[in-house]
Amino acid sequence: MNISLIIGSLSKQSINRSIANYIVAQFPAEVKVQEVRIDDLPLYTQDRDKESVAEYDRVREQIKMADAVLIVSPEHNRAIPAATKNIIDIASRPYGQNLWQGKKVAIVTASPGAYGGINAGLQIRQSLQSIGANVLISPEIFLSRATQALNEQGEVADERTAGFLSKFAQTFIQWAKA
Ligand SMILES: Cc1cc2nc3c(=O)[nH]c(=O)nc-3n(C[C@H](O)[C@H](O)[C@H](O)COP(=O)(O)O)c2cc1C
Repeated sequence: MNISLIIGSLSKQSINRSIANYIVAQFPAEVKVQEVRIDDLPLYTQDRDKESVAEYDRVREQIKMADAVLIVSPEHNRAIPAATKNIIDIASRPYGQNLWQGKKVAIVTASPGAYGGINAGLQIRQSLQSIGANVLISPEIFLSRATQALNEQGEVADERTAGFLSKFAQTFIQWAKA
């Protein structure tokens, strides 16, 4: 079982990376996780469809080979962060080569604020569903007050949060296998 992991934050201190690390650590040992690096991707334009762009080839291959994709993303100004949208666009093109078609995808958002990045989470879902992805709807996670769940090392320390992230990890892997 191959899972491709997209962390929608380019920040070195990313709370979404901390949350993703915890979720991935709960996966059974046989699950292989590969991070899809998005910080070096040129902004997508269809003008590049006829060129070979090494960074695009790399991430498209990672999405293609994945049994399922896990996206853990922040919210920027009540919307999908540009870097998260860019990888969605890159893997949806060239026209006719949409890699999201039928792809199993789970979406998690986390924020220090009260709304847990729910706007970004729902927008990511809407965008992916519009291009045929099979998005996990339940459980859905929009983790509010996320910094309060982390210790000084940036690890998930809050028991309740750890509990539902573990449950999410199990459900996601069972669903991805089915
Ligand atoms: C440009 C920008 C816009 C933001 N807008 C929102 C927002 O709309 N909603 C929200 O909950 N947090 C917002 N934040 C705060 C982020 O949730 C916070 O920076 C968080 O640490 C981002 O996740 P990360 O640490 O994984 O990068 C914004 C942050 C930035 C840099």
